[in-house]
Amino acid sequence: MVIIANVFGFTIEACVEVIQLLNDAPDIAMYELNASCPNTSHGGMVFGTDPPQLWELVARCKAAARRPLMVKLSPNVTDIGLMARVAADGGADAVSLVNTFVSLAIDVETRRPRIANITGGLSGPAIKPIAVRMVHEVSKNVTIPIVGMGGVVQAEDAVEFMMAGATAVQVGTASYADPRAVENIANGLKRWCIAHEVLQASSLTGSALL
Ligand SMILES: Cc1cc2nc3c(=O)[nH]c(=O)nc-3n(C[C@H](O)[C@H](O)[C@H](O)COP(=O)(O)O)c2cc1C
Repeated sequence: MVIIANVFGFTIEACVEVIQLLNDAPDIAMYELNASCPNTSHGGMVFGTDPPQLWELVARCKAAARRPLMVKLSPNVTDIGLMARVAADGGADAVSLVNTFVSLAIDVETRRPRIANITGGLSGPAIKPIAVRMVHEVSKNVTIPIVGMGGVVQAEDAVEFMMAGATAVQVGTASYADPRAVENIANGLKRWCIAHEVLQASSLTGSALL
């Protein structure tokens, strides 16, 4: 099993501290820096939506990291390709996307938001076409590996992300519905490759005819 540690913090110093602590922990293959957190030192603006703040976060975390650093991008931006370039320029070894989309649902009977936080992060199959489009945009902007996610439920979803430019995929929401989702998707991907005479899954990356 490969362990990737997801890192977040509300200040750059907090993220660096987490990475320094994890540096001494065994068996971690790489860090995934969640850039979708608000920077409380800068009025709460989300790191991953402001290019200068994203660059500084990535550069300082990269300097502290004794393992490869993957930067997880926020999708709540106009130009995801620019954010990927900023992360790569700051020293990211890979990027992952997408995190959840800021959303709002209102109960029309009570006229109140459906969750106490008022807004929440939308994930799962509803966001997949947007996530696939963003992976494709990022693939046109950086040469570092891309890990795609957002609504991967079955093997074909993983194939779609890879064809759009992802080297690998992650599974979040589907795992809540079925704890064996990752295993099933990985086995399904093998079967899909065999059925389609794809000798290596890695050859799928960026193979969409766009
Ligand atoms: C309940 C829940 C908790 C999450 N927690 C984190 C987190 O701690 N760090 C992070 O980077 N992303 C977190 N995410 C975002 C997911 O990792 C993923 O980027 C997003 O949900 C899209 O993928 P999916 O549709 O497969 O869930 C969370 C998502 C959900 C639904």
